[in-house]
Amino acid sequence: MTDLPPAVKNAWHLVALSTAVRRGGRLGVVVAGRSVVLFRGDEGLGALIDRCPHRNYPLSLGRVEGGAIECPYHGWRFDPSGACVAVPGCDLPAAAGRLAATPVRVAERHGGIFVCLSPGGPAEPPLPPDLGDPGLDHFWWRQGTWKGRAYDAIENVLDPFHTNHLHDGFIRRSDRRLPVNLKVNSFADGIEMVIEQTKPDLGLMSRFLERDRTRSGTRYYPPTIVQARWDGKQGLTLCVTAFFTPATDDSFTPFACFTTRKGVTPAWLKEAAIRTFLRPVVAQDRRALARQSAVMAEFGRPHFVEGPGDILGSRLHRLWMGDSLEPGSDPTVEAML
Ligand code: FES
Ligand SMILES: [Fe+2]
Repeated sequence: MTDLPPAVKNAWHLVALSTAVRRGGRLGVVVAGRSVVLFRGDEGLGALIDRCPHRNYPLSLGRVEGGAIECPYHGWRFDPSGACVAVPGCDLPAAAGRLAATPVRVAERHGGIFVCLSPGGPAEPPLPPDLGDPGLDHFWWRQGTWKGRAYDAIENVLDPFHTNHLHDGFIRRSDRRLPVNLKVNSFADGIEMVIEQTKPDLGLMSRFLERDRTRSGTRYYPPTIVQARWDGKQGLTLCVTAFFTPATDDSFTPFACFTTRKGVTPAWLKEAAIRTFLRPVVAQDRRALARQSAVMAEFGRPHFVEGPGDILGSRLHRLWMGDSLEPGSDPTVEAML
């Protein structure tokens, strides 16, 4: 069971990278409080609720045979539609429909496997721009399931003020701040924070990646996607599309796709450099989210005070809950980052 809002439970979620489910392979994932088995057989990719309808054994412990996944308990087999296609030792009854496992909608896009637990909603996973654009270089990053709420991870990515402190020296610096203008743009289906500054950040990552900067902005695509982009005079410097897939109410599985302009620097070198800088930054966020979650668990629930830097206010939470916003732009806020 889960207390996640229906808008989150019923959305399309990225649950695995395509490379994690090779032909003949299967993978158990947890999404929005439900266990799902992914498998890839002769008939392509399948996703089923991870519960054998016979005696409720986990199908994710089974093996893939031909086009079907086989339950290890009595050997019933299910195809990607959930239909039971074999009951070992017996003839399959004429009306085998009642023996079926529960199928889950699944789609594979740009190297990611998405599932949707709800029969309604959009036919396709709605995805932000540039993801998978063949004219750009991309690589995927993943790092298992983290402790903490997906919502707090989304807020973390949209909050620039923690970068001077938690990521001191890597993204920005706490001892040397730069004047910036913060602009918040609301859309019916999202919110964006644009950071205008004349110089790139003073942390290591910017100094390596950015020659100049004309714009940097982070946009939330509810319920679980955040895309951050940095542009310079020549166009895109870096675009990070992050997915925060809720596993349970208090754990989530993050994924990110890193997109850069094709150019003189080979893709493998950009990937190696970004991964090197990313590792400590990601470890800092992971630790922070786990600590935050432990404090909230001790007190039974979150209780947040809004400070002067929390300029998104309640809008992030409203979008998370499935509300839409009044489109418009806030007055510019001056700050030191
Ligand atoms: S429990 Fe799965 S085949 Fe019996
Ligand atoms: Fe962070």
